[in-house]
Parts: sequence; structure tokens; C-alpha cells
Amino acid sequence: MNPVVNQPVAHESAALHVSGRAYYSDDIALPANVLHVAFGMSDIAHGRIKHMDLSAVLSAPGVVRVFTAMDIPGENNYGPVMHDDPIFATDIIQFHGQPIFAVAANSIDMARRAAKLARIDYEPLPAILDIATALAADSFVLPTETLRRGEPEAVISGAPQRLSGAISIGGQDHFYLEGQIAFALPQENGGVLVHSSTQHPSEVQHLVAHALGKHAHDVVVQCRRMGGGFGGKESQPALFACVAALVATATGRPAKVRLDRDDDMVMTGKRHDFIAEYDVGFDDKGRILGLSLMLASRCGYSVDLSGPVNDRAMFHADNCYFLEHVQIVSHRCKTHTVSNTAFRGFGGPQGMMAIEAVLDDIARHLDLDPLAVRRINFYGIGERNVTPYHMQVEDNLVHRIVDDLVVSSDYTSRRTAITKFNAHNPIIKRGIALTPVKFGISFTATQYNQAGALVQVYTDGSVLLNHGGTEMGQGLFTKVAQVVADEFGIVLDQVRVSTTDTSKVPNTSATAASSGSDLNGKAAQIAARIIKERLIAFAVENYHVQAHEVVFEAGKVRIGENTLGFDAFVRDAYLARISLSSTGFYRTPKIHYNRSTLRGRPFFYFAYGAAVTEVAVDTLTGENRILRVDILHDVGKSLNPALDIGQIEGGFLQGAGWLTSEELWWNNQGELKTHAPSTYKIPAVSDWPEDARVRLLENTPNTEDTIFHSKAVGEPPLMLAISVFHALRDAVASAAGPIAAMNLTAPATPQAILHAIDGNTESVRNHAVAEESV
Ligand code: MTE
Ligand code: MOS
Repeated sequence: MNPVVNQPVAHESAALHVSGRAYYSDDIALPANVLHVAFGMSDIAHGRIKHMDLSAVLSAPGVVRVFTAMDIPGENNYGPVMHDDPIFATDIIQFHGQPIFAVAANSIDMARRAAKLARIDYEPLPAILDIATALAADSFVLPTETLRRGEPEAVISGAPQRLSGAISIGGQDHFYLEGQIAFALPQENGGVLVHSSTQHPSEVQHLVAHALGKHAHDVVVQCRRMGGGFGGKESQPALFACVAALVATATGRPAKVRLDRDDDMVMTGKRHDFIAEYDVGFDDKGRILGLSLMLASRCGYSVDLSGPVNDRAMFHADNCYFLEHVQIVSHRCKTHTVSNTAFRGFGGPQGMMAIEAVLDDIARHLDLDPLAVRRINFYGIGERNVTPYHMQVEDNLVHRIVDDLVVSSDYTSRRTAITKFNAHNPIIKRGIALTPVKFGISFTATQYNQAGALVQVYTDGSVLLNHGGTEMGQGLFTKVAQVVADEFGIVLDQVRVSTTDTSKVPNTSATAASSGSDLNGKAAQIAARIIKERLIAFAVENYHVQAHEVVFEAGKVRIGENTLGFDAFVRDAYLARISLSSTGFYRTPKIHYNRSTLRGRPFFYFAYGAAVTEVAVDTLTGENRILRVDILHDVGKSLNPALDIGQIEGGFLQGAGWLTSEELWWNNQGELKTHAPSTYKIPAVSDWPEDARVRLLENTPNTEDTIFHSKAVGEPPLMLAISVFHALRDAVASAAGPIAAMNLTAPATPQAILHAIDGNTESVRNHAVAEESV
């Protein structure tokens, strides 16, 4: 048994979090001469700027300077991939709320008041606001992709059963508790230090350098922690960091950009909403023979991360199911709305929602238990196990998980009890659903699957750990510290994890794709091992022992017959001039992927899970509640069971919010009207089900050589919440029949549930579209 790794130790910042002593970017003490920055934003969705008069802004009280695109010395862009995200709009406005200028003032209040005084004349242009309109107009940010295997059309038309249908899947705001923030401090000789709440410090560094016309070595980006990122701080923070750095370098004064909630929700990208349409052929038991699936997503005005997000949607449109003859077409729609971005699952959840709707529809059509239809379509073990992108599903745990969960959750008898309950209750209807998850771990862009770490041992035996990953609450810093403590055989408190810093570990990837602990855990382990090997070599020479006689454990170092404290030993090593610091570098093995053929092994491995959710729906109001959830989730051999359970619970509830209560609504002018908690409803503590039984799958170490044979856990559990959506469909079916259930769309708000029950099908399917084009 490992004393540190695999143990449910508390999050390294838990005490700081709950006592309010954890430092976020906003807690850094401000120098006296700091400037505060507010944005001037467009109030049309699409058009040309005819005339702009900022004189009243400039002469407002406390204003020091106003910045437009003309003040940017380098590139007016914060887009990471295509360079199509202007920091400030120049000629063309592409979404309602797009930044046009920034005002720097002596207080945030003065800056905000001044920003409102701009006079901008526009020439409005027709705006494309939703997916359907974009599809009709062939408006795309990227070319359409097609993933195809076999002969789906022929198989579908020859199948004993055939069905076609559609589902719309809503977007989601990240609603991190800490909003976007950047604080820039000018340094000597043109340098700049930026504190940024970012999942991707290296990218912020590069984009700031490009905007300022400087080199990467002129810019240092630091992030101790974020108050949540969820993908919303992958590409988005660069805008705020660029503006803070611009103001700081232009004025020579420190500059802080911190958005309020409304501006944050209006200005930053969200989860892509999707429309999925399918045509499926199957047999009488519901086994899919051929599937043709069309996915279309709202990318917004620019590319941002829409390429990989939509790729991942395609790669997860199989979920746990073998699709022999399949075609998946993915349209990446360009709209005059904010540019959508990464969000926990990165398109995977939307792809899975599509296939789960297909399976549920098949079951309702055939009047079978949806679970039976799901099971009959599972990937086989050793057969029927190749994904549409030609990767083998090697360690298929879905059967094992689902078999266990069906028993442990009492699925069968509860289904019977629910049927009985519904027969006796005309108004409250219950529903139950089991849905599985298979999620691919690795960045689909192979080059991102690398990481670096820097480990420093001081002469008092304390260890300072730095790695390229960022902490956003998920517990990455704790896990990597556990790995390093284990390597040196010391207690966790002896390892301190320092602020992520681009000047310590360079060229890092975003902390994303759930791979933070896989990548940085390995890199840190390698760094610690290098130091340890030097220490062992020193001991062998100095104490005349064999290498295997040098053992690091329980804060001590055993050297043959002698035992020394770790601190005394490293001091000896220091005196003998042994280097006590090292970098470590790791890259994920085995993965390869051809972007043009959409084939290969994009993922090192899969993480699995399943959930059974039971809900109750009030059929008069559409209000609903989760009564019970049973989750069984695979994290390989857990690095930290307490943190992993936390990720599973948080991911599940965040997913439940996405699919039930969180609804983004733009008016027909393209103005986001749900930009505050008053109109955008995320789950609260009271939405956590009273009866929740969350378990980690036991005795299934990762068959791949990951850090301590653990598996990534950050994103996969979000998709367990698809069971909530299908439990709601199940309840709707009891109230109004199978067609009503099939017409329930996401988010299943009370309104959407009532629409489905009332049989108002067209208005349901096109609900989002119709409301926008009124
Ligand atoms: N958990 C918390 N508490 N806060 C977050 O912002 N982000 C999620 C997930 N869990 C997030 C979280 C997302 S989108 C990802 S990709 C992973 O954490 C990133 O961290 P990891 O790679 O270390 O798991
Ligand atoms: Mo997570 S969406 O990969 O930041």
C-alpha cells in the first residue's frame, strides 16, 4: 500500500478554500498606481462601424487613456488557431457584445461609467443567429467533415426497421465562480508580468507577446489557481490578458481587467449548441445495423476551438456502441454570436447525446426497455470493437460496469415499482434511465500530449514542485504532489506546489482534455526520479552500498545498515555538490491520428462509467427533481479517491444543469438575454439528489502505463448526466406516450417538458430557432 498515492488525502488548498485565504488573481495586492479597465462593447450582432466618437469617454472623470485596435503595437488578435478573433473590432462587428475599445481609469467604477459614453454609429447587416439559418445559408467557420465506414445507406434501407428523427441540444455557460481576470505589471526593459486566470498560461504568453509585438521571453504569465475554468479559460483568457498587458505597457502602470458577471457571460464563448438529425436502420431487437447522423453546431463568429470540439463530437457519437455501417457528418456553423469554445467534454457530450437519443427513440418505437436496446448495441469484447475512426476498444469495461450497476441500483425492481407508481398517480410521473459513458483520453491534436515539470529539493529537505498544469479546483496540484512525495518517500506536507509560471516550465499545453494529471504527474515523476537517481549514485559512492540498498521511505533514507533523515541526506548530497533540481518531460506514447482521413488512435485509452437516475416530474408545471442517482465510474487505480469522487459528483451535477435548467436565450437581435444568475439557472446545493450512491470501479488499474495506472476523471463524469435527461424522457413517456418522450429536447426545462407532454412537437423541435426568428 502506498502511503501517499492512492490515498484519499484532502485537496492541498481545502483549508484555504473554505477559510477564504486561498489567493485568486483578484486577491493579489494592488500597487497604488493601478489602472482599472472596462470594455466598450457593440450593441448590434452584425454590421459595419460607420463612425466612432470616443471623446466623451476620454474626458470622463478618472479616465487615463482609451484604447482601440489602432493602439495595438502587434497583432490585433487573440484567436489561438486561426487568428480570426480581433482583440478590438475594427470595421466589422460580428456579435452583440463584441469588444470595440477599452478604457483605463483610476477606478473600476470610473472605467465602467466612461465606457458607456461612447457614440458609435453602425450600418447594420443581416445577422445569422442560429444553426438552422446558418445551415440554410451554407455559413460555416470550417469545412464540413465526414466520418464514414461501410455502406450505411444500403444497410439502412434494407433493414427490418427504420426510423429518422432529430434532437436539439442546448449550449451552456461555464459559470465559473471566479470570472475572467487578468492583472498585468510592467517590468523593466519592456517586459510584462501577467497574472491570468487561465488554463493555458503558455498560450496567453504567446498571444500577449504577439499583440505587443514582443517575444515570448518578454512575457511571463502566472496562475496560482482558478475559481473554476471548465474549458472557459482555455482560449478566452487571452483577450483579457492582452488588454491588461496592452494598457500596462502603454502607460507604464499596472493594469487590471476583471469582468463583472454580465459582461463575462456576454463576451465569452460557451458550450456549442447542436442539432442532430439521424436516419437509422435496425432489427426487431433494436440492434443498429446502419446509421446516418448529421451533427451541426453553432460555432459563433470565429473558429476558436471549434475544429477539435466538433471532431470530438464525431468521435463520441458512438459512445459505447458498435456502429458497423455509419456515416457521421459534422457541420461547423458560422453565426453572428459569440464564438463558442471548450466546455467540459469538449463536444463529446453533444455527440453522446445524439447517439443516446437514437437509442432511446429506437426503444420507444419498438416498445422495449431502453436499457435492453443499449446493451444489445454495446461494443463487444474481442469482437465488434472497432470505432468508426478505426481505433480498437481494448479494455471494454462497459459490460462489467453496467452489469454491476443494474444489480446494485436495483434497476429492474425499481422500474416495476415506477410503472406501478405512475399507474396510480395522474400528475406526478416518475422515470428511470441507465446510460453509459466511454470517453477518449488525450488531446486529439497529438502535439498537445506533452508536459514538463521542474522539481527542486532544498537543503532542508523541503521540495518545491512546479509543472505546466493549472489548478482550477480539480485537485491536479494535490495529485502531482502525491506523486512526487511518493517518489521521495516523504510526507505530502513536505512538497509545496508553486504557482504555474511560464518562466519555470515553458511551452506547456492547456490543462484540458482531462489529461492534467496523466501528463504532469508523469513529467513530475520523471523529474523526481532524475534527482533520486543522482542521490542514489551519490549514496552508492559515498557509503559503499549497492543501488538497491538505498531506499526512500517514511521521510527517511535507508542506506544499507544506516538510516538518515531525508533532510540530512540531501544536505550531505548538497555538500558533495550533487544537483538537487531537475526538469522532467513526458509525452504520451502510442497515439497517432491522421486529420485528413479521420483515422488512427487519437486516444491513449478510454475512461468508462454509467449512471442510473430516477426522476419525478410534475406534469402540470413541468418541474422536476432527481430522486436518486447511482453511479459506478472507472478511474483506473485512483490516485486520490476523495478527489475523484468529488470530480464525479461535480461533473454529474454540472451535466444535469446543462441538460435541465441551464438555458441560453438570445433575442432576435442576437442579444444574449440570459446573462446573470437571475435568468440563467445553474444547479444549487439543493439540487443534489437526496439519495446519491457514487462508487469507483474497484480492481481495474489502467491497462496502459499511466501514472500509477490511474485514469483521467475531469470530464467523463459530466456525461453521466445524460441519464437525467433520459429519465425525464421516461417520465414524459409515462405521462404522454412514446412520441412525446422522443420529442423532448435539451435542456429539458419545465417549459420543454410541458411542450413535449402537450404534443406540441414542431414547436419543441424548433423551439430555440422559432423563438429567435419571431
Ligand atoms: N473541476 C473543477 N473543480 N473545476 C474546473 O474548472 N474543469 C474540468 C475538470 N474538472 C474543472 C474541473 C475540465 S473541463 C477539465 S478538462 C479538467 O478538469 C482539467 O483538469 P485535469 O486535466 O487535471 O483533470
Ligand atoms: Mo476541459 S473542456 O478540456 O478544459
